Amino acid sequence: MIVLAAILLIVLLASVPYLVAIAFAQAPAGDASADASPIFGVTIPTGYKQWELIAPAEEAAPLNELRAVVGNQTAVDAYQAGKLPFPDGTILVKRAWEKKQSPEFASATIPGAATTVQVMVKDSRKYAATGGWGFGRFINGKPVDEAQHRTCFACHEARAKSYDYVFTRLAL
Ligand code: HEC
Repeated sequence: MIVLAAILLIVLLASVPYLVAIAFAQAPAGDASADASPIFGVTIPTGYKQWELIAPAEEAAPLNELRAVVGNQTAVDAYQAGKLPFPDGTILVKRAWEKKQSPEFASATIPGAATTVQVMVKDSRKYAATGGWGFGRFINGKPVDEAQHRTCFACHEARAKSYDYVFTRLAL
């Protein structure tokens, strides 16, 4: 009996580091999901600042922004092939900056501070209810609230349905 109890105790004690490891391994995953958008669970894709340009855009007052829509390789390939709907795995990111007058040249407008990062991810099964697109809007790397995320698909659906809910066309 005593031997059995001792063995049990050893097994129990030996498993403590593993239990601790499991507990800690889950903590970072929990933190990462805090940076995912509500409703869709979309995160800012790594490396998007190196992605290819699809098109620039300018937004009038009151937002007064300069924008650049960039895409991952799947997006770029689809645009170049004129492929609609966009295939699963397509990611489009809209970068935005305040408009600023160039200090060196009065008529030139240049990007000021970055304002938002907006993301659309194509996964036709996961996001079947919203045209196959998952949405995320981020300010300083943090997702905005759920109410704002409820507006995304409604506007894209109302105005851009004929182009797979995407406004931006490839700038040639
Ligand atoms: C009132 C209309 C409207 C709403 C609401 C809206 N968008 Fe858009 N979105 C646009 C327009 C117009 C463009 C294209 C012009 C531009 O780049 O500003 C665009 C472009 C985009 C693009 C680049 C791909 C494309 O479709 O051209 C992304 C990514 C995007 N929006 C994400 C979002 C997210 C995320 C939300 C919700 C938080 C959202 N949008 C809400 C109108 C809207």
